[in-house]
Amino acid sequence: MCPGSYDPPTNGHLDILERAAAVFDEVVVAVLINKNKRGLFSVEERMEMLGEAVAHVPNVRIDSWYGLLVDFCRQNDIQAIVKGLRAVSDFDYELQMAQMNQQLTGVETLFMPTKPLNSFLSSSLVKEVATYGGDVAHLLPDNVHQRLRKRLAEN
Ligand code: PNS
Repeated sequence: MCPGSYDPPTNGHLDILERAAAVFDEVVVAVLINKNKRGLFSVEERMEMLGEAVAHVPNVRIDSWYGLLVDFCRQNDIQAIVKGLRAVSDFDYELQMAQMNQQLTGVETLFMPTKPLNSFLSSSLVKEVATYGGDVAHLLPDNVHQRLRKRLAEN
């Protein structure tokens, strides 16, 4: 599984999903619901955007989850979590979560380095740049870019 907030999905996410789908028979993308954080997009919108962006990859399925990642994995018989790593700065917290999840239920976390092209990319930075009128078209799947433009125009 590839968990995340995906608010919104970026080209960095898409790259990891496509590469995970080339390694595993099936990839479940789970949008994690965080009740303390109001996103720019609803969980349903994020799932729709992801579904459109990975429509060309047959072995990817989109889902959502509220609660512990390990419980989602157990319920769906998932043995491995795949996480993209952009830089060493990502590693500290990701390592801690991977070790916690491993000792909770034995689920393994596999780290996949992002392409250097995407190493500076994050959903929050993309939103910030787009909010102030910066061009982010090349950083997002087309469908996501359209929706982001529309959402920011509404706000
Ligand atoms: O895209 P993000 O926001 O970096 O994703 C972080 C996410 C959602 C994968 C992480 O916060 C998470 O795993 N949340 C689920 C709750 C949980 O299991 N917490 C304990 C982690 S050890």
